[in-house]
Amino acid sequence: MGFVKKLLSFALLGASLQGLALGDDFPPEDIESGKALQQLSKTAYDNAIARLEASPSSTCTKENVRVRKEWRSLPGEERTAYRKAVECLMNQPDVYGNETSGPRTLFDSFGVLHYHLTPAVHNSAYFLLFHRLYVWTFEEKLKTVCGYTGSLPYWEWGLDAASVENSPLFDGSETSMGSNGAKENKTNPGFFPGGSGGGCVTAGPFTNYTVNFGPNTAPDPLAYNPRCLKRDLNTQICAQWASLKNTTDTILESPDIALFQANLQGDFRWPEARKFGFAVHGGGHFAIAGDPGGDFYFSPLEPVFYQHHGQIDRMYFIWQNLDWENRQTMDGTITMMNMPASRNGTLDDVLDISPVGGAFQYRELLDTLGSSPFCFVYE
Ligand SMILES: *[C@@H]1O[C@H](CO)[C@@H](O)[C@H](O)[C@H]1NC(C)=O
Ligand SMILES: *[C@@H]1O[C@H](CO)[C@@H](O)[C@H](O)[C@H]1NC(C)=O
Ligand SMILES: *[C@@H]1O[C@H](CO)[C@@H](O)[C@H](O)[C@H]1NC(C)=O
Ligand SMILES: *[C@@H]1O[C@H](CO)[C@@H](O)[C@H](O)[C@H]1NC(C)=O
Ligand SMILES: *[C@@H]1O[C@H](CO)[C@@H](O)[C@H](O)[C@H]1NC(C)=O
Repeated sequence: MGFVKKLLSFALLGASLQGLALGDDFPPEDIESGKALQQLSKTAYDNAIARLEASPSSTCTKENVRVRKEWRSLPGEERTAYRKAVECLMNQPDVYGNETSGPRTLFDSFGVLHYHLTPAVHNSAYFLLFHRLYVWTFEEKLKTVCGYTGSLPYWEWGLDAASVENSPLFDGSETSMGSNGAKENKTNPGFFPGGSGGGCVTAGPFTNYTVNFGPNTAPDPLAYNPRCLKRDLNTQICAQWASLKNTTDTILESPDIALFQANLQGDFRWPEARKFGFAVHGGGHFAIAGDPGGDFYFSPLEPVFYQHHGQIDRMYFIWQNLDWENRQTMDGTITMMNMPASRNGTLDDVLDISPVGGAFQYRELLDTLGSSPFCFVYE
């Protein structure tokens, strides 16, 4: 009941009653089609804007709030501007200095950071808030270093569940992020059958992009190891684990943060999360796959990583803003799958991502709207 009341009070602040986000109200066909997700997204957006209007901060207002949008809803020239800004980061110097031989660029520096923090920021208390800060810092660098004037676009995987190959993100056109990898004859389809590429990107942007280091299985993962960007787009994985239904159910079936992050990552320690399998997090990653996209440590060296994690953060934003008062908590320990066993994370812990970005208490990262470094919403 408290939940309903809170939604109602937000609704009265200006959100439409139509948008009420009560899972039971959605017919199965609306969950399959994405109509339910659109409504949840709209309610979350309206609730967030209502919060902002009720208590603007000195730095974050309705006028300057950044609005992150889905890739295909951006006009072609804005997609190109985003891609060019990413290419610009690939031409800026690495900030880790010379202690390793692989990283060459500021884009690479993000990969080094992720590599170092991987065991602490997956299947742990920090997963969602770390990645929120991480993709925001990337967006900031695009703007401050490369003059990008837009906001970080996200990738709604479910819109491409019929064909990732034909996605406006991967169709190889000038306004895409490059094509699938060349089709490879796989004698061993490996852990993820169903990929339609496997080789080097063949057309469009990033055809000539050089991955400078990795994979994580190399004797020295940060050593210079130049090679092409490989992709193995996988529609089957997208359709089975990152569909509009999977995305919607993850939001609706997660009453608390522990279950939300478990359902999102398919964390089998929670029995309820097991049915989600790879879940949307793994589903989105392995719908791209390849090298380094399929590498747990180095996936951020795949340019589309940031649109994928933009969508993860968008789900978190939606989920939080459907019941804001109750969704500002943290759960879990500070090691991946609690291995080795560790203490619980707390909102007072500090996340320091220098030299790539800043240091913040996790508490400061909960709200994307001021009283934090952030000022953004998802449309
Ligand atoms: C790193 O840079 C310092 C200062 O320029 C230099 O003395 C050192 O030899 C370099 N180390 C490597 C491994 O290149
Ligand atoms: C893949 O295998 C098919 C059938 O054996 C063959 O016709 C084709 O040339 C092979 N392609 C490559 C890229 O090796
Ligand atoms: C890749 O490099 C080749 C050789 O320099 C060039 O001809 C081609 O236009 C480049 N492709 C893209 C998409 O930049
Ligand atoms: C994920 O979505 C697909 C396609 O709608 C569906 O077949 C599958 O059952 C869903 N998985 C779960 C765990 O609901
Ligand atoms: C850690 O968190 C779990 C789950 O919320 C809780 O049951 C447990 O008591 C916490 N442990 C400590 C030492 O606070």
